[in-house]
Amino acid sequence: MEILPLTGGLGAEIFGADIRRSEDFIAIEAAFAKYSVVVLRGQAAGPEDHLAFARRFGPINVNRFFKPVEGHPEIAMVLKEKDQAEAVGEGWHTDHSYDKEPAMGSILRAIEMPPFGGDTLFVSMGAAYEALSAPMRRFLDELTAVHSSRHVFGAAAADSEAARSGRLGNAGAATQEVSHPVVITHPLSRRRGLFINPVFTTRIEGLSPTESDAVLTMLYAHCQQPEFQCRVRWQASDIAMWDNRATWHKAINDYHGFRRLMHRVTVEGVPLSGASAA
Ligand code: SIN
Repeated sequence: MEILPLTGGLGAEIFGADIRRSEDFIAIEAAFAKYSVVVLRGQAAGPEDHLAFARRFGPINVNRFFKPVEGHPEIAMVLKEKDQAEAVGEGWHTDHSYDKEPAMGSILRAIEMPPFGGDTLFVSMGAAYEALSAPMRRFLDELTAVHSSRHVFGAAAADSEAARSGRLGNAGAATQEVSHPVVITHPLSRRRGLFINPVFTTRIEGLSPTESDAVLTMLYAHCQQPEFQCRVRWQASDIAMWDNRATWHKAINDYHGFRRLMHRVTVEGVPLSGASAA
């Protein structure tokens, strides 16, 4: 097995591993803990292998809003057809941050890829936090923010192409609204990192709307610096796993006229602790 870092910020490619082999798991798990994003190249895996690999990390967290894969209700379909304009997950986000216990990780399996493009970008939220000034870190360490599913998956989104085409649904279940620390202590590494994201975070508690918007806008611009990023260029049969407590991600929608099909499984997480837990 060969493990090659993708950038200085986060992410690694893994060659020569097989998600079906139990003897490969410890090294994959260690790489996941170290790099936050791992790309397992060339996996001859099917839906059952995908689920079995996810269960090695913990129970499956079934997504409420994505259309499931037929015969596999625990697997979410991430699809853009060649005649569709919008991709799912185009905005910077953290999967399931609107849940009380946000999913610890997401595992995406590339089934059908366009001939070019369709990459996924990731950000290290630990690196972004550490690059802030000490006074700004101290200010943020005390704050909490609200995350919601309503504006993204609820009735307000019913007219989106994803909802109209049936890729996203179950709008009535979009009732989640939860408060998390703006800075969390990662449950495993104990590293501090920012835990806010442009798609699901609606406001910072205790600040006026103007103050909250200004702070979030500043943080979102800060986090998008290339120094904190890695980019995954997919090939069909690759599997990537990322840590939702340590990263943001974004699907790049630059392959119009081509189909892209992925299967995603998310793994249950734990309640998040703030900066003082470090
Ligand atoms: C997602 O947001 O989970 C999907 C990312 C992708 O399709 O690249």
